[in-house]
Amino acid sequence: MADFVGAVDQGTTSTRFMVFDHDGAEVGRHQLEHEQVMPQAGWVEHNPLEIWERTQTVIGSTLSHLNLQASDLSALGITNQRETTIVWNKRTGRPLHNAIVWQDTRTDRIARALDQSGKGDVIRERAGIPPAAYFSAGKVQWILDNVDGARAAAESGDAIFGTIDTWLLWNLTGGAEGGVHVTDVTNASRTMLMDLRTLDWDDELLGFFGIPRSMLPTIRPSSDPDFYGQTLAHGPLGGEVPLAGDLGDQQAATVGQVCFAPGEGKNTYGTGNFMLLNTGTEIVRSPSGLLTTLCYQFGNDKPVYALEGSIAVTGSAVQWLRDQLGIISGAADIERLAKQVDDTGGMYFVPAFSGLFAPYWRPDARGAIVGMSRFNTNAHLARATLEAICYQTRDVSDAMTKDSGVELEVLKVDGGVTANNLCMQLQSDILGVPVSRPVVAETTALGAAYAAGLATGFWSGTDELRANWQESQRWSPTWTDQQRTDGYVGWRKAVERTLDWVD
Ligand code: G3P
Repeated sequence: MADFVGAVDQGTTSTRFMVFDHDGAEVGRHQLEHEQVMPQAGWVEHNPLEIWERTQTVIGSTLSHLNLQASDLSALGITNQRETTIVWNKRTGRPLHNAIVWQDTRTDRIARALDQSGKGDVIRERAGIPPAAYFSAGKVQWILDNVDGARAAAESGDAIFGTIDTWLLWNLTGGAEGGVHVTDVTNASRTMLMDLRTLDWDDELLGFFGIPRSMLPTIRPSSDPDFYGQTLAHGPLGGEVPLAGDLGDQQAATVGQVCFAPGEGKNTYGTGNFMLLNTGTEIVRSPSGLLTTLCYQFGNDKPVYALEGSIAVTGSAVQWLRDQLGIISGAADIERLAKQVDDTGGMYFVPAFSGLFAPYWRPDARGAIVGMSRFNTNAHLARATLEAICYQTRDVSDAMTKDSGVELEVLKVDGGVTANNLCMQLQSDILGVPVSRPVVAETTALGAAYAAGLATGFWSGTDELRANWQESQRWSPTWTDQQRTDGYVGWRKAVERTLDWVD
């Protein structure tokens, strides 16, 4: 009997492999970054072969470090940066182009044209999301229109599409020698191509982007007792392990935070921030700029839906301070710098580097630092960056309360930035509710492990998973109501200044 479950978490900046025990506790991990390819302003790409290579390395090194074999793993789950698009040749395994990353804005025009022609509303209604450069379909269209021979290869059935989960599952199960071509409902719900109700690709939506149906993977549940496939004996695990869990990373974190009841939600602080609220088996529409998306589907159970507030730039704004401005040496350093001052000295930073996502959906926005005087220093900018993370969360949290009617009582958080105490305190102050972090902050990988382990019977059901959740830290509000109101009024004014910068 295997004692553990493994999970690959393929994120925007790095790939990690983690092993969990039956209590949901981490046993070990290895993580590697990959290159961010930025050929021009607004474009962000990854090399899919580098990602596959990193995936194999982190799996192999974790297992050898822990002295584990494939037979010690009951199941393997995959979770991934969502929307990022790869088109590859299924005969050679070679990508036709670098992966076009979710943050990439090159397909803005495609999205805008859809809205102008009225097709945008069909996408909103059927797929639950607005036409935006963020989602996969426009990226596929761009590859088909701009890479020599791509459209012909797609039409002949040689070129196939996948988000990163699909790419990894295909490679882990044999690649050009018979790899499976599958995705799950959560990843499919980020393409603009899946009908939320039928959980199938929609021909009219495919027609909007000129995408042949034959390019697309089969859509499966997020936790699949029939397994997507088995890893190969000559692959990175060195043996057969059932591939049985697949979820987009934000949905995986929702599962890892055991948000299994309607009204339960979480906020993950990664490259961007993503707040998801479980809305149960009902499809809840958002008049306030949130996405309606799949939360998860376990086996043959009814699918569970979510409302999502997606924020493009939070942790990556901290990286920007490090890499482009050089005012901090590492992510941990920002807290030290921001603590040198008691407030931002009137400064606001709106990091609208990829336009603004939820709840604004303004691709024409660009970043701005406002309210400065000669008095301001690097320390104020560091603090304004942390506040920007929290104010953007306030924007989506307010929209969520409006759309769902559920008042936020406590915010469950996870992800890298939650290690920053000052940021979490500011989050509680800006929202006016307590913020709670679990013992296992790596809820994304944990959620993928849970989905995989539920499928193989390693865990008996969601009650068992709930019992694993434990709080490690809680922050409570210290600001007065007046401080909170004044601060937020300033933020909204700053957001106004970022709009209408590009056509
Ligand atoms: O939708 C994009 C999201 O899935 C990316 O997450 O953690 O890689 O920044 P992360």
